[in-house]
Amino acid sequence: MKADPVEPARIVVLISGSGSNMLAIAEACAKQDIDGEILAVISNKPDAQGLDKAKEAGIVTQVVDHKDYGTREEFDAHLMRAIDEYTPDAVVLAGFMRILTPDFVRRYKGKLLNIHPSLLPKYKGLSTHQRAIDAGDKEHGVTVHFVTEDLDGGPNILQAVVPVHESDDAEALRLRIQAQEHIIYPIGVKWFIEGRLQLSKGDVYFDDKLLPESGIRLNSDA
Ligand code: GRF
Repeated sequence: MKADPVEPARIVVLISGSGSNMLAIAEACAKQDIDGEILAVISNKPDAQGLDKAKEAGIVTQVVDHKDYGTREEFDAHLMRAIDEYTPDAVVLAGFMRILTPDFVRRYKGKLLNIHPSLLPKYKGLSTHQRAIDAGDKEHGVTVHFVTEDLDGGPNILQAVVPVHESDDAEALRLRIQAQEHIIYPIGVKWFIEGRLQLSKGDVYFDDKLLPESGIRLNSDA
């Protein structure tokens, strides 16, 4: 939720890769669908393509390279310092491929969001699309969730459900799911910025109503 109801919300986005979700959120901010501004995009990888996308969109970028630090704790301490320069209302993980320390998660708890390419709690971790295909799942999807100390543990805010076709390989499924990511992540960030989402004792409330474990589910025919 915004610290100042007049100023646009202050958002910091963390990336490691292509930054397409970051861009979807930046575009929603530019269109004022989200009453917020991405003040900085921070990457742990100096060659992340998303850094170029952010620069092209006129957003400040910064690299905190995990390879420069001996331990996870040291890296996270520097990352927190970099983030705190911007006094963010929301810290948005968008393809940020680092496991975060409990200290980091606690610091931003309640304003730390992530997107994970599965219908959590199913398929935490990596290779989610292949795992859904291998399991013969008829549906798969993507989840926007608050981040807690439990890795990919939710709790869930919003999911997009996508049918799995007989002909799908992991790449085909990934592409259809990513199209949904670009729809639901800006929605999740918008709701958060508007103060409609609350994390309380591990549960998510939307407009003061407790959400089910899945979060709000949107179906896609894609
Ligand atoms: C997305 O598939 C997201 O679900 C996962 O990492 C990927 C990031 O893609 N957490 P991008 O960098 O936003 O293009």
